[in-house]
Amino acid sequence: MRQFTSNELRKAWKQFYIDRGHVDVGAVSLVSDGSTGVMFNVAGMQPLMPYLLGQKHPLGTRLCNVQGCVRTNDIDSVGDKSHVTFFEMMGSWSLGDYFKKERCQWSFELLTQVFGFDADHLAATVFAGDENAPRDEEGAQYRIASGFKKENVYYLPADDNWWGLEYGPCGPDSEMFYIADRPDCGPNCGPGCDCGKYTELGNDVFMQYEKHHDGHLTPLKQKNVDTGWGLERILAFLNGTRDVYQTDLFAPVIAYIEEASGVKYNADEKLTRSMRILADHLRTGVMLIGDEAKLLPSNTGAGYILRRLIRRAVRHGRTLNMTTEQLLHIAAMYIDEIYAESYPLMKKNREFILSELQKEIARFESTLENGMKELQKILEQKRSEGKKEIDGKSAFYLYDTFGFPLELTVELAQEENLTVDEEGFAAAMEEQKQKAREGQNFSQKLTTAAGVFDGLDDKITSEFVGYDALTAEGKVVGLASETELVNTLNEGETGTLITDVTPFYATMGGQKGDFGVIRTENGTFEVTETVKIAGGRIGHVGK
Ligand code: ALA
Repeated sequence: MRQFTSNELRKAWKQFYIDRGHVDVGAVSLVSDGSTGVMFNVAGMQPLMPYLLGQKHPLGTRLCNVQGCVRTNDIDSVGDKSHVTFFEMMGSWSLGDYFKKERCQWSFELLTQVFGFDADHLAATVFAGDENAPRDEEGAQYRIASGFKKENVYYLPADDNWWGLEYGPCGPDSEMFYIADRPDCGPNCGPGCDCGKYTELGNDVFMQYEKHHDGHLTPLKQKNVDTGWGLERILAFLNGTRDVYQTDLFAPVIAYIEEASGVKYNADEKLTRSMRILADHLRTGVMLIGDEAKLLPSNTGAGYILRRLIRRAVRHGRTLNMTTEQLLHIAAMYIDEIYAESYPLMKKNREFILSELQKEIARFESTLENGMKELQKILEQKRSEGKKEIDGKSAFYLYDTFGFPLELTVELAQEENLTVDEEGFAAAMEEQKQKAREGQNFSQKLTTAAGVFDGLDDKITSEFVGYDALTAEGKVVGLASETELVNTLNEGETGTLITDVTPFYATMGGQKGDFGVIRTENGTFEVTETVKIAGGRIGHVGK
């Protein structure tokens, strides 16, 4: 494998496609214009949706770029080696131009000639086929013709090999993986297994369908290819690490945090997590404030996400005993060094970014102070009521409104001989997360039984009560097998069930919908996925 700096990698990507007739369309704002129902750009294809659907693009039918994206649906995973909230997607597209043959050939050339992988260590997955689209034999053949070994091409179902946003252009995809020299972890080990043997490198989507708002699919009049590779992860991988924080996009910041905090990276798990969260969230904060949209922290929508990111960064910064000046120094490192070449707009907006960050940090600090006062009030009240416990809702209120980490509330309560209802706190947190998912509108899955419920009475809708409850009672108002409305589902049969009231959150925001169990007097339905269905209904998919 060849080693790259981030600047070299972006250039190599674009040059490879420019050499094959593509035009670099550049990147657009990270903040979505709202036309696709999401707050941020979540994929390189998002701004190109009208062109994937058939509108003529002014720059032609072969495009490429490196597009910044923000996804916060995985925010709880940030702190490990690979999750980030801002990332760059290296993309290339055919808008009704070439299709699978060229796509597969070029992906293989890129992997072997530019990145230096050898064919023995490469695997690919293709779509196994279902009621929506056939098995992708053609994709498999072109992968093999391009140089992939036959035994390293796997057929996987829609869960793994279908790609699209909540609605719009979509289709079967084919992912490429690196196979490490190590034994399988078990009989089902293969691409997609997270044991570490297979590492995803990139994704080629063969976009041939349009998914409509009610979930049904129609073929597109043109066949497109949408290719996307995550820059951070591939950069880490090419440089011999799985830790994106050890690439040139983060390493100088991590080194600075080590110096400022006196904490060694990778020495302590919890503190290492704090270092990564701090580095990640501040980076996204810089990118969003410095973006052409000049997003500012606020209490609603995208601004609220930004506020939470900055405040979370500050909290972890404080855990590391870092001062506001030091946090601002990190922001300046992103602007002046790390993204100086690739994001000159940051430099242009330098003073604006730093002063807005500083203001938000100051606001947060006074909020923390007020939180202390609020906590005193709560303690006072509990004492006067003779209670020995702070309820979960109050602890969450302190967390959410005043940025009090649970540990801090527990510690302060302990000093007063009180405990905290940590389960209640977790339940309140879950409720909050449901809210945060709102408006992200990003799904990798098709709706099961789409269209099947169209025949139901318009009055049949679902009331979502999941913001206030994790369980609920309701009536079954619609039931379908995978293809039609039915009155019963027998043991082992899969289908979709609609209830009048539900606490299950439907897939949105790049996050799987809720799963769980629905019990009736005479049966149990295991919900593996929850989806939105046209007409204000929520479908529970399962067995
Ligand atoms: N749009 C595709 C993805 O995000 C390439 O994986």
